[in-house]
Amino acid sequence: MRILIEKDYAAISRKAALMVAGQILLKPNSVLGLPTGGTPLGMYQELIRMYDRGEVDFSEVVTFNLDEYYQLPPEHEQSYYYFMRHNLFNHINVKPENIHLPKGTCADVEKECADYEESLRKAGGIDLQVLGIGVNGHIGFIEPDQRLSVQTKLVSLTKETIAANSRFFAAPEDVPRYAISMGLGAILNAKRIILLASGKSKASAIKETVNGYVSAQTPSSILQTHADVTIILDQEAASLI
Ligand code: GLP
Repeated sequence: MRILIEKDYAAISRKAALMVAGQILLKPNSVLGLPTGGTPLGMYQELIRMYDRGEVDFSEVVTFNLDEYYQLPPEHEQSYYYFMRHNLFNHINVKPENIHLPKGTCADVEKECADYEESLRKAGGIDLQVLGIGVNGHIGFIEPDQRLSVQTKLVSLTKETIAANSRFFAAPEDVPRYAISMGLGAILNAKRIILLASGKSKASAIKETVNGYVSAQTPSSILQTHADVTIILDQEAASLI
């Protein structure tokens, strides 16, 4: 694992955007694995600025998001589909047919998960996977558990994650309890992975990710087994390593 410690959130965002842009410059039809959450917002803003300056072209890029809340329609303001459209896709020239997110409102969730896996397979897997991290070490919505799932799956969210996500919803009971999440298979199959973390609340999860045993209790720790992972941190997120 390569660890980069930056001075602040803006520096993390800039470095991550440079890596994503570099990937696209080297391979214009790159398959990107993308996260949601507050952490990648600065990176997305930076990528939009690069696109506006003509420095990066998304016309051949293919994207796969990590996850989507189960039963939240795409037009819901807290759906990840809405998040991605408003924070990235609407501002760049990625083709709509090249964008993939699990459908939260699908009628048959098992089929949706199998179809998502099949689309990933057809696309040839992910070239560059960008990850955030939950306070409990989840990546995507692969939550701490006794077992870790390899395939895209319907998952129950943990109490910590529901609490962390409640800041985005009007009332606690509105926070979804389930999500469809990519499994570890697609993530670990990515040729290259970058994980971003900012702030004190992530310091303990980062410590476990980097220095802990590989354990299903900290899903991010499995990244230790991947050959090309770069972790980009600010001082606070790096404070326990
Ligand atoms: C959600 C997402 C994760 C993300 C995490 C952290 O749980 N499913 O992909 O990494 O939030 O979010 P934030 O960056 O807002 O701390």
